Amino acid sequence: MSVHNNVKKVTTHVLQQMKSEGEKISMLTGYDFTMARIIDKSGIDVILVGDSASNVMAGHETTLPITLDQMIYHASSVVRGVERALVVVDMPFGSYQGNSKEALSSAIRIMKESGGHSVKVEGGQEILESITRILTAGIPVMGHLGLTPQSIYKFGTYVVRAKEEDEAELLIADAKALQAAGCFAIVLEKIPADLATRVAKELAIPIIGIGAGNGVDGQVLVVHDMLGINNEFNPRFLRKYHNLYEEMVGSFHRYIDDVKSGDFPNKEEQY
Ligand code: KIV
Repeated sequence: MSVHNNVKKVTTHVLQQMKSEGEKISMLTGYDFTMARIIDKSGIDVILVGDSASNVMAGHETTLPITLDQMIYHASSVVRGVERALVVVDMPFGSYQGNSKEALSSAIRIMKESGGHSVKVEGGQEILESITRILTAGIPVMGHLGLTPQSIYKFGTYVVRAKEEDEAELLIADAKALQAAGCFAIVLEKIPADLATRVAKELAIPIIGIGAGNGVDGQVLVVHDMLGINNEFNPRFLRKYHNLYEEMVGSFHRYIDDVKSGDFPNKEEQY
């Protein structure tokens, strides 16, 4: 019997059990009540209220502008739609770097005001003090290494990270530091598959990949990307399970035609 089929509620301990038993972890982003409810009912293990809401929901070019209040709004909407999945909430840019006291109060606000189950932060040893402080309050922390979109202006581009030996060694050291600090899992974004596989093998905690190959303990995708709602984003790592963009445009065209022609509403569709 799989761990997945055997639990009523997914917790960080359940994810650890999945890793121990070699069962892959499924994770998708979610930003609103309706989508979160559908994803949760489908049996996903983890819903990430990603700061990608800044791009997907608000239309910003980067994840930097989204605020703590806005993340709490999205997270509380998601939590109301979820019965089973573990809800992880991204801490937005500026809410945890540099000042560990501020990091703790940001994390406490997320937990209190949204009802989320854990937080995610981007970065390695440079944010260890913040992570340690958040953990002292009993708040589970997920790490995020590799391509960390909140640092896009430092990187300059969204290309694959850690291809060079020194960056790869730093990433491994960061992953080990996050595990030693007490993070319950780590997301690895857009790094070579061999490196991600090595990290997943060397670490005891679950490693979730996005653009990091198949040798990790689970996968995460942005829900709008995997449904094909966003037809302008086509990276190599993305598998599209639907072409919702085309389907939606088709439905909107038919509705417009029906309204214009007077076909909608018909006799059965009125009182
Ligand atoms: O914000 C987000 O959607 C993320 C995923 C890409 C992992 O951090």
